[in-house]
Amino acid sequence: YVIGVDLGTSAVKILLVNKTGEVCHEVTHAYPLIHEKSGYSEQNPEEWVEKTIAGIAELVSVFQGDVHDIEGISFSGQMHGLVLLDKENKVQRNAILWNDTRTTAQCKEIYAKVGNGLLLEITKNPALEGFTLPKLLWVKENEPEIFSNSAVFMLPKDYLRYRFSGEINSEYSDAAGTLLLDVKEKKWSEEICSRLGIPYNLCPPLLESYECVGMITEEVSQKTGLGLKVKVFAGGADNACGAIGSGILAEGKTLCSIGTSGVVLSFEKQGDQDFNGKVHYFNHGKKDAFYSMGVTLSAGYSLSWFKDTFAENEDFEQLLKGVDSVPIGSNGLLFTPYLAGERTPHADSSIRGSFIGIDAAHKRNEFARAVMEGITFSLNESIEIFRNNRKKIDSIISIGGGSKNPVWLQMQADIFNATILKLSSEQGPGMGAAMLAAYGCGWFSSLEECATEFIKPIQAYNPIKENVEKYQTLFSIYKQVYQQTRDINV
Ligand code: XUL
Repeated sequence: YVIGVDLGTSAVKILLVNKTGEVCHEVTHAYPLIHEKSGYSEQNPEEWVEKTIAGIAELVSVFQGDVHDIEGISFSGQMHGLVLLDKENKVQRNAILWNDTRTTAQCKEIYAKVGNGLLLEITKNPALEGFTLPKLLWVKENEPEIFSNSAVFMLPKDYLRYRFSGEINSEYSDAAGTLLLDVKEKKWSEEICSRLGIPYNLCPPLLESYECVGMITEEVSQKTGLGLKVKVFAGGADNACGAIGSGILAEGKTLCSIGTSGVVLSFEKQGDQDFNGKVHYFNHGKKDAFYSMGVTLSAGYSLSWFKDTFAENEDFEQLLKGVDSVPIGSNGLLFTPYLAGERTPHADSSIRGSFIGIDAAHKRNEFARAVMEGITFSLNESIEIFRNNRKKIDSIISIGGGSKNPVWLQMQADIFNATILKLSSEQGPGMGAAMLAAYGCGWFSSLEECATEFIKPIQAYNPIKENVEKYQTLFSIYKQVYQQTRDINV
């Protein structure tokens, strides 16, 4: 057996997976987001550690087999978050997360000191509030004492792995989301560090995602009940692990994942191209491969916001029960999911969401469907960028919350105008982490072989021509809402 841990934004999900890729046990432990001010989003790294250890202990306690048959563990995690450690490896402040937008001034500073062209050439990405480098600069400028006491910075799942193994490392797929990595050359960029006054030795050593960093510590073994010989593997960014866990391992394969954020990502084998910064371009968890990706910041988050605000005591199943009875277009109601700004295609952290076309006859079902449609329209903007750049997208694998509901799966097929494939497991990131451990343990000769064994498409949703046409008209209206509402916050 292997364990795949997905350190998400709202919860840690832990999977125990056997040699045929079956999820034998699954545990989820939630933790809160800390919003001290508008635009701030933080978490206490100690909570990640406590909840993961408690979750694994729970998993071990219900496990019927021999605990010594659990051979390896690996980690997937929310990207871009900044964890700062001092010389004693103590956490210095709360982690600043990917969905924190306090760093607009620091993004401007990066452009001024590095320049758009060089930044894109080295990192393949634009300066966005969510990425790690602007957060480092924010701490340097606003909390100088903490910055000068810092010995190393870490990404969320790298910190969790450090607490499991005692080893301080990062790996390429998560390092790519910092804006400090030379993505093609796979090394931290001395040029960017020196232009922005970031000490080069703040950057942790880099590994491949499948590499073993060591064994779990005695303390972790005692607290979880795991044997002492469990190997710890580096793992990857949640989107890279989502790609592995959905078999996105060759050119032509595209994934749509709807979690707190939503992404559309596509495998890339070239390290010397980009989309001119219009979509992200990161290192894959598969060695020497890459992926391009568009991001909707508030995807599943829009739906959970809607549920928590208007249907607090219901679960998602109850909330979505009636959406099937509402026609395409939600009877004239349109939603844009910009609750915390938007990445692709607008890269605008100050835009906010909207409901347009509210009618006195609208009921909650219309609103719920409009939220689902708005999220899917936003993801379609990423697909449009890919297609405008000559990428052929006929079929898309769908994972995460968006793949649990048949109405949403058909909606994706109709809005994306592509066949949507549902897999035997919608666990993408956690499964990807488990696959990295399985491959690292030597169960398979390649990730591809592991994918063939572990992941199977079980259902296809084909676009329905009449629906596609209706959605195309609505999508062109949706796209205008951004321009019309962007000045509201000024
Ligand atoms: C990707 C991004 C999010 C987080 C969510 O760039 O910011 O998808 O990885 O966990």
